[in-house]
Amino acid sequence: MAKVKTKYVCQSCGATAAKWIGKCPSCNEWNTYVEESVQPDTRQTRRRAMIPVTQQKAAPLQSFESSSGVRTPVDDQELDRVLGGGLVPGSLILCGGEPGIGKSTLLLQTAMRFSGGNVLYVSGEESPEQIKMRAERIGPLKDSLYVLPETNVKIIAEQAEELNPSLIIVDSIQTLFTPEIESSPGSVSQIRETAADLLTIAKTKHIPVFLIGHITKEGSLAGPKVLEHMVDVVLQFEGDRFHAFRILRTVKNRFGSTHELGIYEMNSNGLQPVLNPSAVLIGEKDPSLSGSAIAASLEGMRPLLLEIQALVSTAVYGTPQRSATGYNTRRLNMLLAVLEKRCGFKLGMKDVFLNIAGGLRIEDPAIDLAVVAACLSSSLDIALPSDTVFAGEIGLSGEIRPVSRIEQRISEAEKMGFKRMLVSSYTRNVKDSYGNLKVVGVEKVADIHRLLF
Ligand code: TYD
Ligand code: MG
Repeated sequence: MAKVKTKYVCQSCGATAAKWIGKCPSCNEWNTYVEESVQPDTRQTRRRAMIPVTQQKAAPLQSFESSSGVRTPVDDQELDRVLGGGLVPGSLILCGGEPGIGKSTLLLQTAMRFSGGNVLYVSGEESPEQIKMRAERIGPLKDSLYVLPETNVKIIAEQAEELNPSLIIVDSIQTLFTPEIESSPGSVSQIRETAADLLTIAKTKHIPVFLIGHITKEGSLAGPKVLEHMVDVVLQFEGDRFHAFRILRTVKNRFGSTHELGIYEMNSNGLQPVLNPSAVLIGEKDPSLSGSAIAASLEGMRPLLLEIQALVSTAVYGTPQRSATGYNTRRLNMLLAVLEKRCGFKLGMKDVFLNIAGGLRIEDPAIDLAVVAACLSSSLDIALPSDTVFAGEIGLSGEIRPVSRIEQRISEAEKMGFKRMLVSSYTRNVKDSYGNLKVVGVEKVADIHRLLF
């Protein structure tokens, strides 16, 4: 018997080595090398790599038809928005997210709503009975939805050929395998090969294909970066499993903007689009409590009003705790240092806890001002005026900086009935008031203290 040749493959970036190594020289991850058998690099395997090779000749770009006009909407306002207006024929879409976040639910309900023809829902994770049970909770069943419990990509390809669906959904790419290679499902080689097969189906038959992908505990999509390069669109489903809100973000989109965002709420009938997220997110605020401030944030292209909650209390132990949920703890530490140095607040011996209500994770620096206001309010135990909203980034010297797309934030705040918005005094092109909303410029963190308390 011929000796089976093996190589070591980094499960994070796909780099290979002849021997096991602890730290990947390519992506610097530790302990990611796994032994896999080497495939003979035949012409056939090489040909499968990307878009199928046909005898193509160069032709003027003008002579091709543009595919932009033929998007198929999926009858889900949020998903359509994130995709840039519907499904492009032959696109390969990766939908990633942590376990239990609702990936299977989202794509099952998309399959159930889809009205553009037959849908093939391939599940390597759940049995048809389980899927049916879930589907019955979501809504009425259609004849056009076909389910295939299968993980062999060759059989999936055969079934796709036979059924000729208008949409294919695969749950999940990590469960698939191709019998052509020996490594186990979920390994880099298997993910790369099975995704290449699905890509071929998508591109040759012009069928949009959704792939569900798991996320590792570090938060990146499991499997090689290669996968992200192969697909046309990468969507990320985020949120806190213990909260109802979910955010669907575009990480990559070859057919549209990556600034779009979908917001859903998980309830007993599946995921419902949230049409007015600000109203829901700030709806539970109690105006008499200290430590809570409303931030005019912007997620993707959408303005979003959020409640920032802070709790500042005397540290029980020698080392004060700083903890933030939904916000970067390092940034919190930086803001507290600014407060201490520029505003004279002694927070060095205080525990500070920060929370963004609704379980969302926000990166937008414009919420800095609300974070500082919430911390001051909690520290002094004085509630902030409930008609005030904040939008400003804070620099190291305590200066308040202007933020992007201020008009959008202002109009959202006005729509939600706020009377006053605190922004950087360096903000350009804003009026003093918009309807009932007054725009107040502040220059330094110390001004906030003077103005509010
Ligand atoms: P699921 O789609 O299985 O998550 P994933 O595929 O990302 O792992 O959904 C996970 C959770 O959603 C599950 O814990 C139950 C909950 N859920 C609801 O609350 N309502 C529903 O209608 C459905 C179908 C699920
Ligand atoms: Mg699932």
